[in-house]
Amino acid sequence: MAGARNGILMFKAGGPTWLELAQQGLSSTRRGYDLLAPKFDRTPFMTPPELVEQTLAVAGGLPVATALDVCCGTGVGLAALRPHVGRRLVGIDVSEPMLAQAGQRVRGPGVELIPGDALEMTFDREFDLAVSFGAFGHIPSCDEPEFARRVFRSLRPGGRFIFLSGSKPKRTSPVYWFARGYNAVTRVRNALRDPPFVMYYLTFLLPDVKYVLQGQGFSVSVVEDALEGYPGAAVVIATRPSG
Ligand SMILES: C[S@@+](CC[C@H](N)C(=O)[O-])C[C@H]1O[C@@H](n2cnc3c(N)ncnc32)[C@H](O)[C@@H]1O
Repeated sequence: MAGARNGILMFKAGGPTWLELAQQGLSSTRRGYDLLAPKFDRTPFMTPPELVEQTLAVAGGLPVATALDVCCGTGVGLAALRPHVGRRLVGIDVSEPMLAQAGQRVRGPGVELIPGDALEMTFDREFDLAVSFGAFGHIPSCDEPEFARRVFRSLRPGGRFIFLSGSKPKRTSPVYWFARGYNAVTRVRNALRDPPFVMYYLTFLLPDVKYVLQGQGFSVSVVEDALEGYPGAAVVIATRPSG
């Protein structure tokens, strides 16, 4: 929830208007991002580059030959990975306009930007490293095992899936109530209108996400409170066993 720290959504100048955000929320998840793409980097929904850098530094294990950014958006993760990936760097995202923005940030030999749904990925033992930032809210809870299975299959044995998580905020925290309120409104919206806009807070959290990953064969380690300026954030390192 990088964009909702302290419960306040912070937009940069030139970001979307509230009307545009409402229009995006009323369309589907993919269409919403198609519309938001040109202004996405001026929203709090983009993971801050320094947070991605810190995550990679904490996880270590770089450089690698091949890496995958799942739900890469406008490419903040790809840009951070670029200097550390020798041969093939792939970003997959359901929104082509988001990928077009990523293409402006990261290009060159070995870079592939692939339109596609993370829940339909068919990569097979292709990557040393997979990452995903800021996107788990788009994976319905019931699909989390399938998401983990697809990432697992994408990795070569010994490959790692690295991402940020945290524990559920305390009930006394404004972030908790912001997230619960937002989720309630989104559930009502999705009950009344098709296609759904799948975006929920408080998902893929510890400790539950550990069990989801272990259920698909990952071994999981967690580094807590290691990110400067992000108390409560945890770096999760899920490894596909070599055997
Ligand atoms: C909040 S953005 C995060 C983008 C980027 N990873 C970042 O951290 O700034 C979420 C991204 O996930 C993509 N997305 C949502 N659901 C998806 C799915 N099922 N498969 C692939 N991409 C998806 C959206 O198009 C959007 O680009």
